[in-house]
Amino acid sequence: MSVSSSIEHEIKDINLANQGKRRIEWAEREMPVLRLIRERFSRERTLEGVKVAACAHVTTETANLVRTLQAGGAETTLIASNPLSTQDDVAASLVSDWGVSVYAIKGESTETYNRHVRIALDFHPDLIIDDGSDVVATLIKERLGQTTEIVGSTEETTTGIVRLRAMELAGVLTFPSVAVNNAQTKHLFDNRYGTGQSTLDGIIRATNILLAGRTLVVVGYGWCGKGVALRSRGLGANVIVTEIDPIKAVEAVMDGFRVMPMNEAAALGDIFVTVTGNRHVIDEQHFLTMKDGAIVCNSGHFDLELNLTSLKEISQAPQQLRPFVEEYRVKATGRCVIVLGEGRLINLAAAEGHPASVMDMSFANQALSAEYLIRNKGQLKPGVHMLPSEVDNEIASLKLRALGISIDSLTAEQLEYLGSWESGT
Ligand SMILES: NC(=O)c1ccc[n+]([C@@H]2O[C@H](COP(=O)([O-])OP(=O)(O)OC[C@H]3O[C@@H](n4cnc5c(N)ncnc54)[C@H](O)[C@@H]3O)[C@@H](O)[C@H]2O)c1
Repeated sequence: MSVSSSIEHEIKDINLANQGKRRIEWAEREMPVLRLIRERFSRERTLEGVKVAACAHVTTETANLVRTLQAGGAETTLIASNPLSTQDDVAASLVSDWGVSVYAIKGESTETYNRHVRIALDFHPDLIIDDGSDVVATLIKERLGQTTEIVGSTEETTTGIVRLRAMELAGVLTFPSVAVNNAQTKHLFDNRYGTGQSTLDGIIRATNILLAGRTLVVVGYGWCGKGVALRSRGLGANVIVTEIDPIKAVEAVMDGFRVMPMNEAAALGDIFVTVTGNRHVIDEQHFLTMKDGAIVCNSGHFDLELNLTSLKEISQAPQQLRPFVEEYRVKATGRCVIVLGEGRLINLAAAEGHPASVMDMSFANQALSAEYLIRNKGQLKPGVHMLPSEVDNEIASLKLRALGISIDSLTAEQLEYLGSWESGT
């Protein structure tokens, strides 16, 4: 039964709902941990009457998170966390089949995106689920009076947590915010295996190029960068890593990758992937030395890792070669630089984002963080919080159970040994 007529929304096409529903249910098969949480939430209704504004990539996995919050009794408004990451059929199904207010259209302008952020705040949420901290930052910049209504927020990604810490330092974060990204069952798997695989999926879907034998430059060897580098090597690419952190750089060397400054890598790479969370890590001087046909893309949160403003200035008008593939001919060199997905997250622009089985753990963290904030309403200090480590362990245990894998547990003797200091050699 369609519930769309009474639900406020701004989506591409409600007629896509059937396809969206099938895909949401397909993803659900790979999300056993979230399913268990949903079953418990529907029994306990711990989020009864809670208003949630969620800013997330509108994908099949996010739809299953929203269904979980709904099972707990929450009312959710969902907006896109990136103008290019929305799956329009999923947005349609959420409105039509689950009665969720969704404001998200793939390819929406930055202006529309920003308007949707304000619509999420007009909803007067108790909880904010953020991905990149745009909702929280807008709240603090423009609606200070409304901050007292907020029980807490959760943050999905590395870049958002960097921003939250800056807000905390500036003394403007006046409510608790759970750093979901920092849970081990989030970044160790989502950032590494999820971004690793789906970034290559995005590059391949956009271009259909063979990676074997190509030189692929990974900019940033953090959690995402490690995943991209490992998966690229698995597909036969020669991987170069660039870093600014000496420890990460040594790690990349020990993992068997070539490490060098971007000024050197720029002339060698066939494909460049930025995953730093930092701005202009590929800049004008690098575009000027790249090979003809070099492909550049970004999988970091914001679209500022590639300095596309500068590339536009030094190039002829770009030509669209395929969806998500634009060619820039650099006037000074006559060589072309190919930009994928307008420099936005390539795994979400040209592919479907992370596979469901990895988002299962990330979104288990989101659902349990929402519950944690409500259960501890008024008890948590303002600032950035971690979810308790028992929750992390519980999510990992549930995942193992779902995979049919059992592990050993400590014997009483081992427990005693690990807690003592007397016995040595
Ligand atoms: N595409 C996705 O679906 C997805 C998923 C998770 C995270 N992210 C985003 O990806 C980005 C990276 O996340 P992460 O968890 O790997 O972060 P991280 O902090 O673990 O790693 C970032 C790395 O980039 C390095 N770096 C910074 N500036 C650099 C520069 N100029 N040149 C080279 N290296 C530089 C840092 O030293 C660090 O090692 C963030 O913006 C995050 O929000 C995207």
